[in-house]
Amino acid sequence: MRAIVADGTGAPDVLSLAELPDPEPAAGEVLVKVAATAVNRADTLQRQGLYPPPPGASDVIGLECSGTVVALGEGVQDWQVGDEVCALLAGGGYAELVAVPSGQLMPVPEGVSLTEAAGLPEVAATVWSNVFMLAGLKAGERFLVHGGAGGIGTFAIQLASALGAEVFTTAGSPEKLAVCADLGATRGINYREESFVEVLKDAGGADVILDNMGASYLSGNVKALATAGRLVVIGMQGGVKGELNLGMLLNKRGAVHATSLRGRPLEEKAAICAGVVEHVWPLVAAGRVRPVIHTSMPLAQASAGHRLMEESGHVGKILLTV
Ligand SMILES: NC(=O)c1ccc[n+]([C@@H]2O[C@H](COP(=O)([O-])OP(=O)(O)OC[C@H]3O[C@@H](n4cnc5c(N)ncnc54)[C@H](OP(=O)(O)O)[C@@H]3O)[C@@H](O)[C@H]2O)c1
Repeated sequence: MRAIVADGTGAPDVLSLAELPDPEPAAGEVLVKVAATAVNRADTLQRQGLYPPPPGASDVIGLECSGTVVALGEGVQDWQVGDEVCALLAGGGYAELVAVPSGQLMPVPEGVSLTEAAGLPEVAATVWSNVFMLAGLKAGERFLVHGGAGGIGTFAIQLASALGAEVFTTAGSPEKLAVCADLGATRGINYREESFVEVLKDAGGADVILDNMGASYLSGNVKALATAGRLVVIGMQGGVKGELNLGMLLNKRGAVHATSLRGRPLEEKAAICAGVVEHVWPLVAAGRVRPVIHTSMPLAQASAGHRLMEESGHVGKILLTV
């Protein structure tokens, strides 16, 4: 098969297309002929040598894909050759073929093309597992998502607002905030001009915060929480070491979580994917949550996709088609 390989670690141009042996589906796995994959921040870190694949995962970059089932490993009963699917991966997506644990396959939601579906697994699984399964966001609660114009942000705004939350979000330009408003955000905050802490304090605090920044926003996020608020850190774009005011957290009876999806046990990932299919796909099929695609480019141009993400020139997902 052809796949993207990295010639060492470093800038996006270490990535190029090469021939690799076809993967074989192990017991419990399904072989997928990839139609499209998508760029994630974690891929750019892996390329730089900062986020190695977990033990047993493919060395090929790529955390999600869409495509067609072409072979079944021993014991797989839930899928058939020919099924059109999308999948959450621990790696291997930037390739013509990928072997996937069967619990991480999901049907392509109604109303979404096979190519567009490549941009859904990471955002749907991340937002569903963190904002709803872990932080328990409920209808009527106030939700703050940082980086509202990114892949995660555009999905989180739509899902939280479809499920009845009041959505606040941050982004770095008026143009990006306009997109966030179209997706359902009731209050956009240009983080270059306004303090999200003051905006949230004035509004009564956030019941749930989904944070991509880590250290640089930790103290502000705790200040912005409402009583019994839950902060979930999923990204460290602003560093890894911050200062946590436990006195303030204690007074608010708040919670701070930090999670990652990629290294979780297969059963947990399967439970998350099942939750996505049950709770999120119907909203996608109804058109209330839709994939937000910035652009799609051929897999061979993966380095250009990485450059675009690192410049934050995108809104939503960057797809790579095979
Ligand atoms: N833990 C997990 O399991 C998990 C899973 C998936 C993703 N993630 C993480 O989640 C984060 C978002 O992922 P993604 O795929 O959505 O990436 P993305 O599309 O690149 O979105 C990141 C967004 O952050 C915004 N941003 C940059 N500086 C900011 C600041 N100071 N305040 C607020 N926003 C700022 C960027 O645009 P503007 O500055 O122009 O607004 C961009 O829209 C990444 O850090 C990623 O690693 C974690």
